[in-house]
Amino acid sequence: MQNLAIFASGTGTNARRIIEHFQDHEEVRIGLIVSNKATAPVLEMAAAKGVATHVIHRKDFYEDEALLVKFRAEGIGFIVLAGFMWLIPEYLIHAFPDKIINIHPALLPKYGGKGMYGMHVHRAVHEADEAETGITIHYVNPRYDEGQIIFQASCPLSSDDTPEAIAQKVQRLEHRYFPLVIEQLLTR
Ligand code: GRF
Repeated sequence: MQNLAIFASGTGTNARRIIEHFQDHEEVRIGLIVSNKATAPVLEMAAAKGVATHVIHRKDFYEDEALLVKFRAEGIGFIVLAGFMWLIPEYLIHAFPDKIINIHPALLPKYGGKGMYGMHVHRAVHEADEAETGITIHYVNPRYDEGQIIFQASCPLSSDDTPEAIAQKVQRLEHRYFPLVIEQLLTR
């Protein structure tokens, strides 16, 4: 059984889709939701679905490796970032080589990097009058949004799409593809 941790800081709509996708799955289980925000709605959602949760603090996360000890004890073998805002420290990347992935709400390498998250991305896409946008699922390295790309999906935009409409289109792609891409990576 592959045991997965999801890191999320926000609403957790992607985390929810992933949990639901792997409920009763024969090869993959969601062992833990990790958040840097004790009040993040994702924690309540996960608890309601019977998934264990864990809140991390900045200093501990970057300065000691207790999280790694916890992951080892619980047999976590793969990490999915779904709306997690902090850079992943080197010790975690080294402990999980090619086993940490992130989803970005645009077609990288466009609209990535520090400060490019959430509505900032969709507003920038809107202002540039792009004909399309999409999602990128990629491996995580120590820099924002620069790891090797695993999967992209795109959707057409029309000139009257507001940033909010763009966000909705992108979210639809995320919810549709993220669980499937994770499943493909873990069961091949
Ligand atoms: C998603 O748009 C994802 O691409 C990004 O953070 C957002 C998380 O949304 N990295 P949610 O909390 O899963 O709804």
